[in-house]
Amino acid sequence: MLALNWKMNPTSVSEVEKLMQAMKVALAQIRTGDVVVFPPAMYIDLIIRIKESEQIYLELGVQDVAVAEKGAYTSQISANMAAGLGLQYALVGHSETHQYLGVTDASVGQKVAQVLQAGMNPMICIGYQEDKSSQEIDYDMLKTQLQEALEPSKELITNQDICIAYEPVWAIGTGVTPTPEMIETVIIYLKRTVQGILGAKTAENIRFLYGGSVNSGNIEEFNALPELDGFLIGGASLKPEELPKLAQVVV
Ligand code: PGA
Repeated sequence: MLALNWKMNPTSVSEVEKLMQAMKVALAQIRTGDVVVFPPAMYIDLIIRIKESEQIYLELGVQDVAVAEKGAYTSQISANMAAGLGLQYALVGHSETHQYLGVTDASVGQKVAQVLQAGMNPMICIGYQEDKSSQEIDYDMLKTQLQEALEPSKELITNQDICIAYEPVWAIGTGVTPTPEMIETVIIYLKRTVQGILGAKTAENIRFLYGGSVNSGNIEEFNALPELDGFLIGGASLKPEELPKLAQVVV
């Protein structure tokens, strides 16, 4: 699975159109729902129109949702609004939402519940910590984040496509990545922890992704890891020349 997080990019309609053309070329072989784009919400209507007229096989998601269904939450988007537009996925708990929007581990749990109640699929980011410099793996922190994200929704999970993206904050946008061995070790730990929270049967269907400075130069090596089901990619997803190589993961 390839999840492309455009963050607050591109900055104009014409650039969105150009990037969608590059996506069309890169994804020409793809006929599954295994590519998800998380664009800025302002462009979603435009992207739906391009996707349909150009027949580009991709799913769309929102980059965050509110903790509530509606009301006095200026600037926010509810899961129901996104679901109403036909969006399939919602990114929850991305480190930049922790850093700039005050999202907490507890609010991630509320957001995941909103996403599931709206009938969408949550893509839950795990790995945020305030100290961006420490590369030490804090297993207790990862466990707490998973518990806070999933415990409130235990009863709401049916057949949704739940994705958990391991995104060590120090690897996001830095060009520095963990070794493949580190990623594999953490993913095994996350899987075991999720089994403990949700039970083995539910956990079996959850997809585990890695995110943080993935690009055309390192994706092949990471893609060889047996425990990984895909990638959440930021910076490289905005570069047309990177897309064909990234797309190989899902061809
Ligand atoms: P990056 O971002 O690929 O630019 O490191 C990943 C992410 O923030 O999801």
